[in-house]
Amino acid sequence: MDGGLDGKHILITGASGGIGFETARRFLQEGSRITAIYHTEKRGLVSLENSYTDMLICVQADVRSEESVQAAFAEADRRFGRVDIAVANAGIANHEGVPIHEMDLDQWDNTLAVNLTGVFLTAKYFFQNLESHPKDTAALIMVGSTAGEFGEAWYCDYSASKAAMHGLKMSLKNEIAHLAPKGRVNLVNPGWTMTPMAEGALDDKRMLGRILQTVPLRKVAVPSDIAGVILYLASDKLAGHVSGQTITVAGGMEGRVLTDFDDNI
Ligand SMILES: NC(=O)c1ccc[n+]([C@@H]2O[C@H](COP(=O)([O-])OP(=O)(O)OC[C@H]3O[C@@H](n4cnc5c(N)ncnc54)[C@H](OP(=O)(O)O)[C@@H]3O)[C@@H](O)[C@H]2O)c1
Repeated sequence: MDGGLDGKHILITGASGGIGFETARRFLQEGSRITAIYHTEKRGLVSLENSYTDMLICVQADVRSEESVQAAFAEADRRFGRVDIAVANAGIANHEGVPIHEMDLDQWDNTLAVNLTGVFLTAKYFFQNLESHPKDTAALIMVGSTAGEFGEAWYCDYSASKAAMHGLKMSLKNEIAHLAPKGRVNLVNPGWTMTPMAEGALDDKRMLGRILQTVPLRKVAVPSDIAGVILYLASDKLAGHVSGQTITVAGGMEGRVLTDFDDNI
């Protein structure tokens, strides 16, 4: 289906991770030009760089740092001009669950710095870029989580950071229209997805069973499930009148299993 993404310039954070990489790959297949922001390593982006030499640049940045995000947008603009679409996807979750009464302030601060401040800075410099290149259309897609909807015991730092995406989305959908009259802001909330972030938890069969008990489609998502929805929201042709919305990509997830069947009740 032609989504009109050919030639669009897309900036993606967390582009060397599971969801970000697949999203970058799919946009490239549509003929988009990509600024792929990576943090520690390019990983699979190296092969995309070789296949799509004139359509992809990889830029290192730490989304916690204002200087770093500002420099990444400057480099993106220098190479491909106006950023038409930004995908604020970078995120972290602590590998081990930690109850709030044992959680270090450092963990809380760092999760909020990547997952919330990182999205703030990505949106800030995206909107500055839109201001300096006036045009009708633009799209910001943020990647939240079902943890922001249902909560996630022992990951309250993560769920709080993801719940905050709703407030950002509802504010920024109104701000973007002042910079690009047909500009749109939407949120994708994946459920559990097979990526390095979820690896440990999904290897645990008991944990997997608990997760799938509330999911009628009885499947853990793969990155392409999320990437497809990001591409849809990015497309002015397909989603040009969709703004301020959250699309949950979680196989119909109802929530959380709180008590095991064999627990004493
Ligand atoms: N997988 C799931 O089950 C799941 C469920 C719901 C929502 N999500 C959300 O989906 C998004 C993508 O996650 P994923 O599953 O694809 O995980 P992933 O494979 O771990 O990818 C996360 C990406 O974020 C980058 N990142 C981390 N800290 C950063 C920083 N300070 N500055 C810049 N980039 C940074 C990582 O780079 P480095 O590795 O180099 O640090 C990595 O490329 C996240 O926002 C996550 O919260 C995932």
